[in-house]
Amino acid sequence: MYTESQYKRYTVTTALPYANGPVHIGHLAGVYVPADIYVRYLRAMGQEVIFIGGSDEHGVPITIKARKEGCTPQDIVDRYHSIIKESFAELGISFDIYSRTSCKEHHETAAAYFKKLYEAGKFIEKTSLQYYDEEAHQFLADRYITGTCPHCGNENAYGDQCEACGTSLNPTDLINPKSALSGSQPVMRETKHWFLPLDKDEPWLRQWILEGHKDWKTNVYGQCKSWIDAGLQPRAVTRDLDWGVKVPVEGADGKVLYVWFDAPIGYISFTRQLKGDDWEKWWKDQETKLVHFIGKDNIVFHCIIFPSMLHADGSYILPANVPANEFLNLEGDKISTSRNWAVWLHEYLKDFPGKQDVLRYVLCSNAPETKDNDFTWKDFQLKNNSELVAIFGNFVHRTLVLTHKYNGGKVPAAGTAGELELQLVKEMESFPERIGRAIETYHFRDALAEMMNLARLGNKYLTETEPWKRIKENPDEAMTALHYSLQICANLAILCRPFLPFTADKLSRMLHLEAADWQAAGSARLLPEGGLLETPELLFEKVEDTAIDAQMQRLADTKLANEQQAWKPEPYKEKVSFEDFQKVDIRVGTVLEYTKVPKADKLLQFLIDDGDKRRTIVSGIAQSYPEPEKLVGLQVCFIANFEPRKLKGVVSEGMLLSAADKDGRLVLLTTQSPVTAGVSVG
Ligand code: MF3
Ligand code: ZN
Repeated sequence: MYTESQYKRYTVTTALPYANGPVHIGHLAGVYVPADIYVRYLRAMGQEVIFIGGSDEHGVPITIKARKEGCTPQDIVDRYHSIIKESFAELGISFDIYSRTSCKEHHETAAAYFKKLYEAGKFIEKTSLQYYDEEAHQFLADRYITGTCPHCGNENAYGDQCEACGTSLNPTDLINPKSALSGSQPVMRETKHWFLPLDKDEPWLRQWILEGHKDWKTNVYGQCKSWIDAGLQPRAVTRDLDWGVKVPVEGADGKVLYVWFDAPIGYISFTRQLKGDDWEKWWKDQETKLVHFIGKDNIVFHCIIFPSMLHADGSYILPANVPANEFLNLEGDKISTSRNWAVWLHEYLKDFPGKQDVLRYVLCSNAPETKDNDFTWKDFQLKNNSELVAIFGNFVHRTLVLTHKYNGGKVPAAGTAGELELQLVKEMESFPERIGRAIETYHFRDALAEMMNLARLGNKYLTETEPWKRIKENPDEAMTALHYSLQICANLAILCRPFLPFTADKLSRMLHLEAADWQAAGSARLLPEGGLLETPELLFEKVEDTAIDAQMQRLADTKLANEQQAWKPEPYKEKVSFEDFQKVDIRVGTVLEYTKVPKADKLLQFLIDDGDKRRTIVSGIAQSYPEPEKLVGLQVCFIANFEPRKLKGVVSEGMLLSAADKDGRLVLLTTQSPVTAGVSVG
């Protein structure tokens, strides 16, 4: 390895995608393409490595989807597991195993893991009150409870979040809670759960990450730091649910392991499936480097919670690195499964057959390594046409065509190397290390750009030596130029393999190149003089406007469909009497001051002149008013006779009235012309 390494072998994992939908370009750019590059590189370096993947098949959303579609959760995960698994294979994501968490071996491993910690007294048991559906005879997951949001009045808020105003909720915050299972009103019942006391782990986590891992990416390190600084809380590792790994202790009927407890153990289960009795050295030997590839929404689970599970067991190694990426957007908008705003891998493979490497190239060169990035179809076309075709493909093609024309498709003799060749050889030597270092430090974009620089170097060399001109006056020099150009092609065949494995295969075949080891690259003697070459085929073809237009049209259709069906007015409510209406005391007040509420980026705290006194009202409108100073002086309408409520530690004496627009933006109600503060609205 080019960077210092005390490791003998590598265990590389990728986040297990939920098997409730197919995989899209955001998953690929963030996790699977970089991980595959890393692993293919390690293999080319002759390192021992296992590459672990699989589907995450538990959790509440899968049960909700099954209920909606009138099938079992197993049906859902069976469907998506095979779509995901096949599309990964077709894109060349070279897992050593791609398994799934609903399999028997995983259930056994995860249950045993829990049991060991349980018996060692690593959990705390807590009994709490939770909503229970008496008709469906089960406890309700937060997502299974709907009701009215206390902040914005949206009647379809979920027990964990109101999607209209974005506020995170507890089920008990909801007004008029209803069970999504039976529609009945749930009751409170006692239930027992097991918690991982993360608070106790704080000292060693702080030491291990904040002191010991300053080498982690800044986005990862920063998230860890803010979690640790905010103070870690015990985390429940069990749930009342009938889909998942059964909690293997007495008195835990109807309980399963929390999906975020069982899923990362999947990495271990799948290693056991892959390696049998030999699995332990991949997880328990200090000379094994454990690396988790994930997206930024998984950081806390892989850097804090899973490590504390591993630490609680005591016999496992901890991740050496967690190179999490940011998010990839699509044509300027956040990728969304529910809005079908995505490029789905299985559809791409159908629409662009044989163009796996193009997608891999575009996603790697645009990977959201340090900030969110955007995928656009125009950029996809441009990167294909003016980089892959015009630089890489063109160089290889020119070299091969000229060799066929002037030397019967055989590698010409090197002849006498001039100044130019000596310089070239020196430069060529430096590429494997430069690309390797970048990959070893998770700078995949830079690594890819360096690989392309080698193709650029080849083009420059061809342009400078002009073998098609020299062939007449000085054929020996022309042959030398082709010889060296072919050696560059051979280097490209090795060095592009982690990024563009299909191209590497094709190019190696055309060159009759056997070598694939990284260490073999850098040499100008990869192809023997007189070696036979195949008739050249194009490595890349232009992507035409029509193909891009078809994709753009599809996205435009999606957008239109979303706009048309997304918004309908909420159903109108049942009639109420005028007296009932009059019970609600709505007033006009004037905004005097505002304050941001610490640790609540949705909330703003206002001081309102209500005509009588100054009253504090907390409102969940912060995201809709990025410049709250503009609200000072505004007349607002508010409900004056709610019981005061504590929101994030601030007592709120009323609620501001606002309209939630169809995109979720909140707009405050104000008066059409100035009125006296404190007057009634009715
Ligand atoms: N399914 C999770 C997600 O898509 C990732 C699980 S990663 C694992 O966000 F470590 F839990 F397996
Ligand atoms: Zn709300």
